[in-house]
Amino acid sequence: MCGIIGYTGEEEAVELLLNGLKALEYRGYDSAGIALSKGSEIIVEKSQGKISQLERKIEGENKDLSSHCGIGHTRWATHGKPNDINSHPHATENLALVHNGIIENYAELKKFLEKNEHYTFESETDTEVAAKLIDCFYRVTRDPFRAIAEALKLLRGSWAFGVIFKDDPGVIYATRKDSPLICALDEKGNFIASDIPAVLKRTNRYYTLEEGEIALVCADKVKIFDMDKRPVKKEIKEADWDVEAAEKGNYPHFMLKEIFEQPTVIRKTVSPRVKDGLPQLGIPKLTDETLKRFKRLIIVGCGTAMHAGMVGKTVIEKLARIPVQVEIASEFRYSDPILEENDLIIVISQSGETADTLAALRLAKEKGCKTMAVVNVVGSSIAREADFVFYTWAGPEIAVASTKAYTVQICAMYLLTLRLCLIHNSLPLVQVKKLTEELLDKMPVLVQETIDRSGEIRKIANRFRSVEDLFFIGRGIDYSLSMEGSLKLKEISYVHSEAYAAGELKHGTISLITQGVPVISVATWDSCYEKMISNVKEVRARGASVIMLCKKGAAAADDVSDFIIDFPECSEMFMPMLAVPSMQLFAYHMAVFRGCDVDKPRNLAKSVTVE
Ligand code: AGP
Ligand code: GLU
Repeated sequence: MCGIIGYTGEEEAVELLLNGLKALEYRGYDSAGIALSKGSEIIVEKSQGKISQLERKIEGENKDLSSHCGIGHTRWATHGKPNDINSHPHATENLALVHNGIIENYAELKKFLEKNEHYTFESETDTEVAAKLIDCFYRVTRDPFRAIAEALKLLRGSWAFGVIFKDDPGVIYATRKDSPLICALDEKGNFIASDIPAVLKRTNRYYTLEEGEIALVCADKVKIFDMDKRPVKKEIKEADWDVEAAEKGNYPHFMLKEIFEQPTVIRKTVSPRVKDGLPQLGIPKLTDETLKRFKRLIIVGCGTAMHAGMVGKTVIEKLARIPVQVEIASEFRYSDPILEENDLIIVISQSGETADTLAALRLAKEKGCKTMAVVNVVGSSIAREADFVFYTWAGPEIAVASTKAYTVQICAMYLLTLRLCLIHNSLPLVQVKKLTEELLDKMPVLVQETIDRSGEIRKIANRFRSVEDLFFIGRGIDYSLSMEGSLKLKEISYVHSEAYAAGELKHGTISLITQGVPVISVATWDSCYEKMISNVKEVRARGASVIMLCKKGAAAADDVSDFIIDFPECSEMFMPMLAVPSMQLFAYHMAVFRGCDVDKPRNLAKSVTVE
């Protein structure tokens, strides 16, 4: 969840570390710190709060922090409050360590270290236990590599570690399990980082570390070994994200920039997958014969990614007539699911590192099922472990609230649906061609038109900026969209909202509808439109203020609503591509009006690498 950065090379480390941390701040942001090698000493500076607070602290102290090697961390607390002491790095008399993840057996190890090795602990973190355990082995071996390798044998849980040792200045040791970590290569030194954007200003060349490997990152080379210190040969990867993609440009927030990138990323994701007017998944190993074998699809994900899966379910079932189940990853993994050989498990994840989704993927593989990942980050854990990978080419998504990643995830669902329609002959070829063409050519233009109405949506948000409760209602696919709209609003504006299946309201929740309560009614699905209007009338009759999301010219919309956000004509299945960006903008403007930190909402982190 947190961000890790490390640098060793010919340049001053402090600035590079602080810049790297700022680029990673979206991953976790309740405290930050750095540790620098200085001769045979290690200097640690850390502070609760954002990176800017750490910077102010460093400036205020006016210490000589000149160094060419160091590690840095932005924390998303799991064990212990976000305060100065619990912040990373955690240092011992021999080393300093940063950690992303959770040491699950920390309590038992702590007891052991206190009792048998006479260590004392100052923080409440699990991380300090890992630092002291490595230190304990180092006292005996005086060998950093062996100390880390021995400690790893005793740890349970998830980690990405960056460690520097007093006796080995200029070298950063790095290792990981279930948390991402890369070693990036630059002419003037080398880096470790938990994510590519942290180093993108300097380099796009990197190694991904695998579990069971320990890297020695030096100024002029990176050496990677297995646990027995046998060298591991690895391929250098190149990220094709450019620096601008990971910067805000002229936008006030990453989230707004990413909302506005949607037409571009739709084209990027869809166009390479259309050949002769027909949809292709472009996954060499996933042939039509293989795809035809699957009798049931199970889509698994968390949050927004899971909501994209819900859209997938509706369109696949409706058009390709294949049964689809959608599961929340954290529930799926502990539900002892009944999986069959002919099931295809599709995991959806922007980051490709979400712990629960990764665990769901592993469980499916263990049970002998084939797995497909719809993932944005190339080379991420989920991408590496799935049998088939569909990359969504959204570029880096920095804002914690997922926007453009959702849109390309549903594009992946559409392409899959259309390919399945061909394979199973469930739609005539001309119809598949027509829909594919619409997705490729027409939809990016319509999405652009929708987001260009941001000013209008802002006015509506202004009207409701002070509300504390809000409802989203919809039927069928519109219910899935309501869930996404509600999640977006909650996470960034902190307005309480609920997404309800419109027909279900009268079974209890309608008691909460009183004079002036805002209800966003999503009504884009033709087959349920009239039923939806009845439900909207029901809430209106109880005083609700209704914001209607519907097609242009939809019957009775004027009658039943106070505000209308309407969409141009397109095939019903593509309506989510217009409705969801409108709700993203509504949430965005609400959050700005309410003075919230849009890109870094409280308590959240971009990449949820803990359970
Ligand atoms: C979306 O706005 C959220 N921040 C969150 O629900 C997110 O979609 C979820 O954590 C899944 O992340 P992933 O796509 O990286 O797996
Ligand atoms: N579990 C560690 C802590 O609470 C690391 C959390 C993180 O990944 O930021 O300090």
